[in-house]
Parts: sequence; structure tokens; C-alpha cells
Amino acid sequence: MRIDRRGLLFGGTVSAALVAGGARKARSASPLKIGLVLPMTGPFASTGRASETAVRLWLEERGGRIAGRTVELLVRDDTGVADTGRRLAQELVVREGVDVLMGFGLTPIALACAPIAEQAGKLMVVTAAATSIITERASVIVRTSFTLPQATLGIARWAPKNGLSSAVSLVSDYAPGHDAEKAFEQLFTAAGGTVLEKLRAPLQSPDFAPLLQRAKDAKPQALFVFVPSGVGAQLMKQAAERDLAGAGIRLIGTGDLTDDDILPQMGEVAIGTTTSHHYSAAHPSPENERFQANYQRLSGGRRPNFMAVGAWDGMELVARALERTGGDAEGKKLVEAAKGLSWTSPRGPIAIDPATRDIVQDIYIRRVERGKDGELWNVEIDRIPAVADPVKAGLVR
Ligand code: PHB
Repeated sequence: MRIDRRGLLFGGTVSAALVAGGARKARSASPLKIGLVLPMTGPFASTGRASETAVRLWLEERGGRIAGRTVELLVRDDTGVADTGRRLAQELVVREGVDVLMGFGLTPIALACAPIAEQAGKLMVVTAAATSIITERASVIVRTSFTLPQATLGIARWAPKNGLSSAVSLVSDYAPGHDAEKAFEQLFTAAGGTVLEKLRAPLQSPDFAPLLQRAKDAKPQALFVFVPSGVGAQLMKQAAERDLAGAGIRLIGTGDLTDDDILPQMGEVAIGTTTSHHYSAAHPSPENERFQANYQRLSGGRRPNFMAVGAWDGMELVARALERTGGDAEGKKLVEAAKGLSWTSPRGPIAIDPATRDIVQDIYIRRVERGKDGELWNVEIDRIPAVADPVKAGLVR
């Protein structure tokens, strides 16, 4: 049972840690409790599964320890509902006494939990949710995922330079979708493009068919899409049914659309879709090859996606910050220690902006292609180095 699983101790016991640590203070030797708040069931369960797998992989590779402390992981299922997430975060802090809160698969859940982390003075690592404003909602938040404007910047500038100067946008109707829509319009227009129409689909149980028909009727050169992780396959299928490609409309978007977790099942229709994002399972680097192979082993052959890499780096962030504080997990101290950290992630080089506590990372332009192995991959064709959140950088208002 995934819900309410608790007390999974990795590595040795507490007493073993004490012996190993010699004269180390009791605080440093006690287990570090990390509360993971994730959608483990419901429509966004794929985000929960990928995030938890990556966290467990990270722990497995480090012998279950962070900065010399054993780690106790407490996974809680918010089912994708903000009120549930808030209640679970509260319980994790008050009843379980967790040191760190982590995860947050959807923006409304991250926003609901921010005041709890702030009041409790706990580090809150956002490894998934991606609306720009999240980090501004609590001083204890650090993000290892991305922001929608950050991911959008790449494709919004790439499209007009590559013969796609008119577009319709289609986004999920909630905060990250609104962020993507706004960033796309402003950055695409500044790069010489024209947005013909802006369409929004409901987050829950969307039917894209009528919206795709409207997009087709507007006769743009490109359709820009943001849908959250897990939803892209359905949109692709409906785009194929409407034969957008036959009407000469190119599909572009943020990489959430061609999510590596479900890309292998999307079929021919996905080929040629061009997106911008911070992680591709096809990213050529030794760090990613290792991540990829080990994740597949642990997940029964699934590919890691951008949710997995966000969670992996969330653990890396906690470890590096704790090294800096000498094992002290007090929230404010950990946040200070996290500012300015940088390392090479499976996605490429990343850093935590000390001013915004948001992630600075390379954004890649990727095209879906069939690889030599016969599988579909997001193949990186261009790279924009060290992109900060364009909203906080004043490029999008
Ligand atoms: C979000 O709710 O912030 C979110 C979820 C899934 C994504 C991107 C953003 O793929």
C-alpha cells in the first residue's frame, strides 16, 4: 500500500549510525525525516510514481544516508487535491516531525502547503510544480523542477526563426497553463511571431477535440501546447484524429507534451513535434546514461522523465545543503545553504539562484525522432545555456 507508508528506514539503524559517527551530536545521528507529498493515485499518479522512484534510487546509490544521517522517507498521497495535500503536510510537520518537506506534483498543492512550511520553519523542496510564483509564497521554498515561462522561452524564440511565425496556443486552464500562455505570447511576439488565438482546456477530464478543431480553423503555422505531465498522449491522439499535420499545422510546446514517461506509447503522430524543456531522457551525458540505466532497473523498464530528474535533484539539494550546515536541518539554515549551490544533474548543469531560490538551467530544443532502437526520443537539437525564470528576470510580465 502506498498511502500512509511510514517508517521505511534506509541503511543501518540509528544505533549503528551513532557508533559509526563516534562523538557526533545526537541531532546529527538521528534519522533525517523527509516527508514526500505527491499524487500517488488519481489522474496525476505518474508524477508521484516517477518522483518517488527517483528519490529511492538516489537513496539506494548513497547507501540510504544524507550527510552521515540515515534517511526516513514518509510518502503521502495527496491524490492531486490541494486540501488533502495541506492536511498531509500539516500532519507530517506536527505529528511526524519531518525535517524536510518535498515533492508537490501540482501547483495548487504547492501553494496550499507553502504557509505550512513557512510557519513550521521547514525547508520545502518543490521538485515538480512549475508556476513561476510558487517560490515567492514562502521564504523556505527552493525549487529543483523548472518554471513554465523558463521552458517556454526556448520554443517561443525558436519557432519564428524556423518558419513558424503564426500560432494558436492551447494550455490547461490553471496556473502553470496561464504562465505558459502568457510567456509564449510575449516571447513569441517579441521574436516576430503572431498569436492568432489563445485556447484553454479544463485541467480535469479535458476533451481536446473541439479546441483542436478551433485551432485548425484558425489556420496557424503552429499549435503551441502546454498540458501537465501524463496528459500529452491523449492530446496527441486527438491531434492525429483531427489530422493537424495534414492541415500543415506543426505541433510545438513545452516538453510536458512529449513527456518521456509516455512518449514511447505515442506512436507516429508524435514524430517531428518540437518542444523546449530542461530534461530529455536522451540527453547525452555520462550522468544521464547512469541515471537512465539505474532508473530503468528500479522501475521495471520505464524511462525517467522530467519529474524524476526534479526529484533526484531535490535529494541532491538536501544533501549538499546539509553538508554545508554540518547536518543541521533547521529550515532557514538549509535555505541559506541551498542558495548558490550548483552541480551537474542528469539534465545538465544547474544552479540555485540565490536571489530567487529558483533553478537556473539549460533549456534544450528537442525534436521527437525514432531512434536506432526503434523507440521515440526527444532528441536535443539546440541548447540555450543558463536560463533563469523569465518572469523574475523581467522578460515576461
Ligand atoms: C504544475 O501543476 O505546476 C505542473 C504539473 C505538471 C507539469 C507542469 C506543471 O508537467
